Amino acid sequence: MPAVTVFGLGFVGLTTALGFSHLGYTVYGIEVDERRKEILRSGQLPFVEPYMDEVLKEHLGKDFFVCDDVKRAVQKSDYIYYCVGTPYGKDGAADLTYLFSAIDTTIEALTDANGNPLDDKFRCLVTKSTIPPSTTSDKIVPYVKSKGKIADNLGICNNPEFLREGKCWEDFINSDRIVIGVDKKKSKELMGKLYEPMGRPIFFVSHSTGEFIKYLSNTLLATLISYSNEMAQVADTIGGIDVASAFKILHMDKRWNGCNMTSYVYPGCGYGGYCLPKDTCALLSQSEVKGYEPAILREVINTNANRPRIIASNITKDLPKDACIGILGLSFKPESDDVRDTPASKIIKELMAMGYSNIVAYDPIANKEFAFRFPDIKITLLDSARDVYQKADVIAITTAWKEFKEVPKFGDKKIFDCRYML
Ligand SMILES: NC(=O)c1ccc[n+]([C@@H]2O[C@H](COP(=O)([O-])OP(=O)(O)OC[C@H]3O[C@@H](n4cnc5c(N)ncnc54)[C@H](O)[C@@H]3O)[C@@H](O)[C@H]2O)c1
Repeated sequence: MPAVTVFGLGFVGLTTALGFSHLGYTVYGIEVDERRKEILRSGQLPFVEPYMDEVLKEHLGKDFFVCDDVKRAVQKSDYIYYCVGTPYGKDGAADLTYLFSAIDTTIEALTDANGNPLDDKFRCLVTKSTIPPSTTSDKIVPYVKSKGKIADNLGICNNPEFLREGKCWEDFINSDRIVIGVDKKKSKELMGKLYEPMGRPIFFVSHSTGEFIKYLSNTLLATLISYSNEMAQVADTIGGIDVASAFKILHMDKRWNGCNMTSYVYPGCGYGGYCLPKDTCALLSQSEVKGYEPAILREVINTNANRPRIIASNITKDLPKDACIGILGLSFKPESDDVRDTPASKIIKELMAMGYSNIVAYDPIANKEFAFRFPDIKITLLDSARDVYQKADVIAITTAWKEFKEVPKFGDKKIFDCRYML
């Protein structure tokens, strides 16, 4: 049975690691965040993700190991997976620092002091992190080649991940398709073997095609969301239009109905979370670097950037500056405690910039994470939607948690349904 090392034990890395353990492989997890390692070693998840806690308990210490000895893990492995973050870098480009640092660690583990390979084993280095098209061929392959003879023993691949937070396990195990960007025949063979037991459709493509497919997916989702928000703005400007009904009736078209995409063709607070914002910017940046200015992508980003300001000015219309504003929902989407690039943070910042400082908020699971990630946002976090309702003069629903459907029953205060969910 092959062994796999996974660098980065976040949403994608932990899911990948446990997914491969589930297939019967031995998996070594490498993580630089000591707090995250400690939490995982105690059998807990560092984030909220349905079902994964059970899978973690099943595999931890049996065929999934959270390792400190990186060298040993890499040396024993046939596949080295990179699932580290690729956050916003300069001018919106993807920051590849974590990725190259993990590649350096890998090569150090496989070579002696003179840079010669320690063994003859062929290993696949697989980037699962989202990286802009041409990164593997323009940057990773030449970088690995610059390390000398070891490059002959390494197959450089990418294997983009399409999972959704909140459905990580389900999406990984029952993935619609497995995309593998490869160039060497040997890598293709080994990658095919790795995924064969999963029984999902596998597509071998060029390195840049593999990378591009991931951005096609994320930028299309971002485009649908920005389109929907722009249409909501058009409707509000024209007036007399029930936006929520209009979109729901649009969804009844056979071409949309049942295709599971309708949540993206619906207005709200703008796209957020770890992926769509940074990936849309990264593709725009990569295209510009290569010489083409994609006008649609630029407007998708602008529309999204404007959304929090539009929402904040709707909420504050005729509202005195000392009024208390209640925010319901802090995570970027329901059933998740992920607050990275969450629209709620941007709306709150807009409100504060407009001079509103009396803000109370509640999220069913993300209060703690929000306080941790945004120490500069000085708001009062409360324990329930009812507490927020009682304290606030006006209320804004910024994440579509089901429990917020009950809020209108609390009384007759003004509620801004920024998610069109009531
Ligand atoms: N979150 C998603 O829904 C999702 C979906 C598909 C693809 N992706 C992509 O997958 C990648 C990871 O995303 P994520 O949400 O899992 O991020 P994350 O921030 O949850 O996890 C990344 C982890 O990598 C660790 N790390 C950084 N450098 C490291 C190193 N040198 N060695 C070991 N660990 C290291 C970090 O400490 C962190 O725990 C990104 O490129 C992202 O765009 C994310």
